[in-house]
Amino acid sequence: MKPLFIVIFLLFSGFFSMSISAGGSDVMLDPADIQLEDRDAIKRGAKLFVNYCLNCHSANLMRYSRIAEDLGMSNDEVSSQLITTGAKVGDTMKVTIVEEDARRWFGTAIPDLSVIARARGVDWLYTYLRSFYRDDSRPWGVNNSVFKDVGMPHVLWELQGLQVPVMEKYTDEQGNPSEVISGFELIEKGTLSTTEYDAAVRDLVTFLAYLGEPGKLQRLALGKWVLLFLAGLLVLTFLLKKEYWRDIH
Ligand code: HEC
Repeated sequence: MKPLFIVIFLLFSGFFSMSISAGGSDVMLDPADIQLEDRDAIKRGAKLFVNYCLNCHSANLMRYSRIAEDLGMSNDEVSSQLITTGAKVGDTMKVTIVEEDARRWFGTAIPDLSVIARARGVDWLYTYLRSFYRDDSRPWGVNNSVFKDVGMPHVLWELQGLQVPVMEKYTDEQGNPSEVISGFELIEKGTLSTTEYDAAVRDLVTFLAYLGEPGKLQRLALGKWVLLFLAGLLVLTFLLKKEYWRDIH
């Protein structure tokens, strides 16, 4: 009996394992609510990624050909829809920016995003990409409520528009007056509505989650068949038992 228990336990713990977010900030994170099996969302997210992020961030652990395979796209589709850099389908998602230039322009190295979803968690990413706000004291004119004094410009501002923080006063444990950001107010409209922008960011985060663990997509698909098989087996075993015991009762 014991080994069977262990197998069942392992099967289920895999399904219910949750991603743990390592935010490292006190700000409340909004739930990303992504559906990793949603290949259309991953595709839309991949398009956003190559258009808005790949100028600066690489994803060196991912090849375009793997995306084609996982998402059921032809090599031609990948070339025309996802390759913006002159790369070949078999290449990894490299970036053209030179690290030294990046340091000079942004004051920091630009991280590769291959496993960022595992490092930060999807909720952090979802919140981060929606929390840039105007701050004229910063080099790019923006700051971020989950990444204080961030070195990245708000590259999606045309889509989201520009927002300012709504501050809330409170008294901390030592009795000193303090302020926190309790929300945002849009002062300049973007090309997308707030709901559309949130949906676009959710797609992008779905892509980043896939990027961090591409094998999971296949595991999820396989897992459904395994469960279905087990359910079928249960019914068969039950019927067999009834058949065996029929004459005895
Ligand atoms: C113009 C260059 C540029 C573009 C385009 C850009 N980023 Fe960044 N990004 C940066 C820089 C620079 C940093 C490092 C910020 C720092 O350390 O202060 C950064 C940091 C980040 C981080 C935080 C990494 C960490 O340390 O945890 C994430 C996540 C991120 N970018 C996601 C994105 C996404 C998603 C896009 C596309 C929508 C994007 N970036 C587009 C320059 C860019």
